[in-house]
Amino acid sequence: MTTYAIIGGSGLTQLEGLDLKQAQSLDTPYGQPSAEVLRGQYAGREVLFLARHGHPHRIPPHQVNYRANLWALKQAGAEAVLAVNAVGGIHPAMGSGHLCVAHQLIDYTWGRAHSFFEGELAHVTHVDFSHPYDEALRGRLIAALQELGYPHSSHGVYGATQGPRLETAAEIARLERDGCDIVGMTGMPEAALARELELPYACLALVVNPAAGKASGIISMAEIEAELARGIDKVRAVLGRVLAAD
Ligand code: HPA
Repeated sequence: MTTYAIIGGSGLTQLEGLDLKQAQSLDTPYGQPSAEVLRGQYAGREVLFLARHGHPHRIPPHQVNYRANLWALKQAGAEAVLAVNAVGGIHPAMGSGHLCVAHQLIDYTWGRAHSFFEGELAHVTHVDFSHPYDEALRGRLIAALQELGYPHSSHGVYGATQGPRLETAAEIARLERDGCDIVGMTGMPEAALARELELPYACLALVVNPAAGKASGIISMAEIEAELARGIDKVRAVLGRVLAAD
């Protein structure tokens, strides 16, 4: 049976319903992960859980130690990763509350430690990243969304921005021209690091606000937090369905 790891983003710093068996403080060659790696029973099976921003939420997207997080999960026995990300909606279909199983990404982040392959290497490695998300895992998320009857998109291009500030309207217009449907700050380098560790990885994105310039007025944290609070039960239900079905 595959051991899944869930990486919880904003609004999912703990997995309600997880019957906790163990909390591991792990150290890695890259430093400490954002939080303890939790192991427990969820939806009738053993899973690992890690809060990407720490618990409580305290690490901003550009300061998350993505390498330590992925390494720690692999070390703890993860065989596949389900990542949860809060995002802004760019495409008209991506309204607040919508769920999207991303199929592609564009990386606009900079200055983040983004590879395990550096330093004293025996040889240079270039991993294939043509399709950043694992199709089988994506399929499981989409099947769960269909069964639950939640409005969702089974495809979407995720634009990963640096943060922690939100984008300008012109930056979002550029992302849109590039083909991005959703925008978030945590999708990369997480996905690429998972690939380097040969961990199948998929992203379940919850739209929590219209991206900059896509609605009148400014984007407020209160709006984002209210949307997260409304949507996170759906996210939990989808994760539970995936785990129970596999
Ligand atoms: N932009 C970037 N990241 C985000 C957004 C956004 O509008 N909303 C939630 N995460």
